[in-house]
Amino acid sequence: MTFIHQIRLDQQHDTRRYPFTLPVVQHLIRNPIELTKPVTFLVGDNGAGKSTLVEAIAVAAGFNAEGGSQSFRFATKATESSLGDHLTLRWGTRKPRTGFFLRAESFYNVATEIDRIGEGIHASYGGKSLHERSHGESFMDLIAHRFGGRGLYVLDEPEAALSVKGCLTVLRHMKELVDEGSQFIIATHSPILLAARDAAILEITDGAIDEVPYDAAEPVALTRNFLSEPDRFLRHLLD
Ligand SMILES: Nc1ncnc2c1ncn2[C@@H]1O[C@H](COP(=O)(O)OP(=O)(O)OP(=O)(O)O)[C@@H](O)[C@H]1O
Ligand SMILES: [Mg+2]
Repeated sequence: MTFIHQIRLDQQHDTRRYPFTLPVVQHLIRNPIELTKPVTFLVGDNGAGKSTLVEAIAVAAGFNAEGGSQSFRFATKATESSLGDHLTLRWGTRKPRTGFFLRAESFYNVATEIDRIGEGIHASYGGKSLHERSHGESFMDLIAHRFGGRGLYVLDEPEAALSVKGCLTVLRHMKELVDEGSQFIIATHSPILLAARDAAILEITDGAIDEVPYDAAEPVALTRNFLSEPDRFLRHLLD
């Protein structure tokens, strides 16, 4: 069960500028994304357009473009593209009770906003200012204390803050949250996070978006290859 069933992009805009020039955005005009599983991963190389898409989805879903809850309305610097204004999300009848948008690059600003809103709010984030926690600790506080059941979570590279063990802990929290009716949309490079159950992996290759099985997803296949023979890999890479 998902809150957002489909993401569509209508063709009525200036296609000569970013983000409409991106191949993946062009692809989206012709091919809506269907969200059939509680967890949807977006994978693809650096620059493939994952953050652009994830951010647009978050904006279309009513989140602040810089991250946070739907009620956060702060802005430090407008870098978001206008893609979100052009996306059409098809919602199911069930509505999320809560949610969060984690924009990898501006978690710091979210922590500042939580501090600004005041002391009372810290309880929902583990009882401490997130500025007094390490990057990974603050993300753990967020998922353990702030995320709840029936939530919509849009996350951009949550693994950026996390150790391998941290990623495994996140998998456990994700499973609980999904069991409690939550939906996740996550851009990631982490072969560990990609192992989440009940997930669809959408891979962006040459601007096209295709669903791939876990073992075929590039972060998984390439990491597995590398780890099986790092020396051979390095020789190949460096010689
Ligand atoms: N504000 C912007 N103006 C113009 N081009 C941009 C802007 N933001 C991103 N781009 C370009 O759009 C492309 C996609 O960027 P995006 O950040 O969505 O990639 P990504 O898939 O998230 O990559 P990564 O894995 O490195 O995070 C990149 O080539 C980038 O240079
Ligand atoms: Mg990105």
